[in-house]
Amino acid sequence: MKLFLDTGKVEEVRRAVEWGIVDGVTTNPSLIAQAGRGFKETVLEICSLVPHGTVSAEVVGTSVDEILREAREIASWAPNIVVKIPMTPAGVAATRQLTREGIRVNMTLVFSPTQALLAAKAGATYISVFVGRVDDVSSEGMRTIEDAVRMVQNYGFTSEVLVASIRHPMHVVEAMRLGAHIATMPFKVMEQLFQHPLTDIGLQRFLDDWHKAGLKIFE
Ligand code: E4P
Repeated sequence: MKLFLDTGKVEEVRRAVEWGIVDGVTTNPSLIAQAGRGFKETVLEICSLVPHGTVSAEVVGTSVDEILREAREIASWAPNIVVKIPMTPAGVAATRQLTREGIRVNMTLVFSPTQALLAAKAGATYISVFVGRVDDVSSEGMRTIEDAVRMVQNYGFTSEVLVASIRHPMHVVEAMRLGAHIATMPFKVMEQLFQHPLTDIGLQRFLDDWHKAGLKIFE
């Protein structure tokens, strides 16, 4: 399963990339606005930090023409950009056209299996299914992941199911169990993936025993 960082903060990307496990970055208009810098400069800096991964950058137009114009512009900025387009009738039509042109699309704001099907049929590279926002309203976000993964497998679509709106490490575990292709998460959740109290206790015990015995690696 690929791990993406969900952020508009360049510094977070820089720190996470050092761990060597980041396969890509997703942004959205809210995350870019929170980061407080220009859109293009932010996206380009992130692209340079993950040259072998993809960076999803989102359009804000809502008509087919606006989406196409913005998507072609954003895609021209760097070879590893995937254009994020919302799941609307205009977004699906634009996605169909853009994939014919060779521009990769991350279809975002997908909440239901039927929306996932339409994204796959339009040729989206990634289908971003939001789980946390569904859990927030007392429903089961992961049900749509299960359906979308099965749909892609049943029909041999090339789209990858991207678990978005992740709130905690168990969302990542569930994504793994369901065979999702990608999980994108905030920096804080990625940090939490490392943590286990028994690792900390175990490491401390190994080090204490080693030092007490006066052992050395380099004699
Ligand atoms: C996905 O790519 C979105 O940017 C993101 O996961 C949304 O998460 P949120 O529901 O925490 O805003």
